[in-house]
Amino acid sequence: MRLVQPTLLIALLAILPLWLSAQTSSCGKVIINADQGKDTISRHIYGHFSEHLGRCIYGGFYVGEDNTQIPHKDGIRTDVIEALKELKPPNLRWPGGCFADTYHWKDGIGPKAGRPSIVNTWWGGVTEDNSFGTHDFLNMCELLGAEPYLSANVGSGAVQEVADWIQYVNHGGISPMADLRRENGREKPWKVKYWGVGNEAWGCGGHMTAEYYANVYRQYATFMSDWTNTGGLFRIASGASSSDYNWTEVLMRDIPHRMLDGLALHHYSVIDWNAKGSATQFDEQQYFTIMERALKMEELVQKHSTIMDKYDPKKKIALVVDEWGGWYDVEPGTNPGFLYQQNTMRDAMIAATTLNIFNNHSGRVRMANLAQTVNVLQAVILTDEEKMILTPTYHVMKMYNVHQDALLLPVDLQNCDYALGKEKLPALSVSASKDNGGVVHVSIANIDSRETRTVSVELRGMPVTAVEGQILRSGKLQDHNSFEQPDKVLPSVFRQFKRSGNTIELDLPPFSVVVLAVKG
Ligand code: AHR
Repeated sequence: MRLVQPTLLIALLAILPLWLSAQTSSCGKVIINADQGKDTISRHIYGHFSEHLGRCIYGGFYVGEDNTQIPHKDGIRTDVIEALKELKPPNLRWPGGCFADTYHWKDGIGPKAGRPSIVNTWWGGVTEDNSFGTHDFLNMCELLGAEPYLSANVGSGAVQEVADWIQYVNHGGISPMADLRRENGREKPWKVKYWGVGNEAWGCGGHMTAEYYANVYRQYATFMSDWTNTGGLFRIASGASSSDYNWTEVLMRDIPHRMLDGLALHHYSVIDWNAKGSATQFDEQQYFTIMERALKMEELVQKHSTIMDKYDPKKKIALVVDEWGGWYDVEPGTNPGFLYQQNTMRDAMIAATTLNIFNNHSGRVRMANLAQTVNVLQAVILTDEEKMILTPTYHVMKMYNVHQDALLLPVDLQNCDYALGKEKLPALSVSASKDNGGVVHVSIANIDSRETRTVSVELRGMPVTAVEGQILRSGKLQDHNSFEQPDKVLPSVFRQFKRSGNTIELDLPPFSVVVLAVKG
């Protein structure tokens, strides 16, 4: 055997660090083709979800008409509405979730004093007095400028009940339900387009098999008529939980496509359903695990889409991710059935990466709903009596609203690794779009908990004349806004970039998210 010459060995050792750095520096390159793109990023990807759960509706959105402490319009909190409007919420889902399959809408109309009470069996066993009902919700959507997305009761309801609800909210002519609506003070129909046919039919919505639910769906959808003023109802089937691909397969196969506009998918980022961990006190391994769960959305969207492509190659049916977000233990001392949790920079990373995934798959993902808007799970707003704070997730949703209804641009990304022990995740997440005014927006997240990443973004197919940006970052992953310190985590102007011709080189601090606006 011939031994390597010592001088050659020394020379090799000397160039090894250079070679290694050359290897690592090739990551973090982004090429955006600004003159290409075919799919529009539906604004409905940026939807929200409000359930009769904990303090989402009562205390969060609605404080009652007689409240003298908190400013409101017809019982709806003015501060919450004004804050949400900044996000440009395209749609709002209601009344659940699991609650939807226990909800009888006629309990929530008419004089409030005469409304029956029910017990909210899914969420804390509290008494629901039905003081917030159909009129309150639909009027609130008008205040927000959001389209309502009503989730109909299939699990414990009846076909006639849903048919009546549609007639009540949508029929402009003379009919029993439209007349009842007028008696209750509303002349014009609300024109509700988006309808969920049950929720989690495989679980809290009735523990059905996919085959059984497909038949039930067909029956309900038959009687969910369009009252000619909505431009056609958009009917959404209760979809799979995470990687239940069989559910998607069966529904795509067994439901006639003329009856189906959207197929739902629910996926939560959770460490372990029996040991979820604190929302604010977590270590790096827990952060890494949550990010691994959140990034799984890429695979889920791809695989569910592949099944849908097989049956629906023209992509007529939308994949509707109508529940997503991080799920942790409730805040200490709060009702375990209320799902009230804080929201940190970790949640900002979930939001930024998930929204990039949805943007990048906007050919098929055309609607999604973050769970949930106020005081529940990955909320954008938290309230405590008259106080209100905006979470890091709120700031991401606001920074990203520039993508709504913009043209998705193809992105070529050479990613970097975020390594923890032997495990690795892609450190960077990117999406880009061009708005009606020709401005290109690029959203980039660096989920690495320790490394600043230098990223070069090259725009092809357009001149670059000006760049500006915003960044959301903070000193610690666990940082969050509290009622004592409401502005700890806030976006700021982003300056850590240089432009040379069409290439922008930026430094992305650990666990940060940047949105650039590039003008041609
Ligand atoms: O968002 C909380 C609950 O999670 C919803 O009610 C249900 O659909 C899901 O299991």
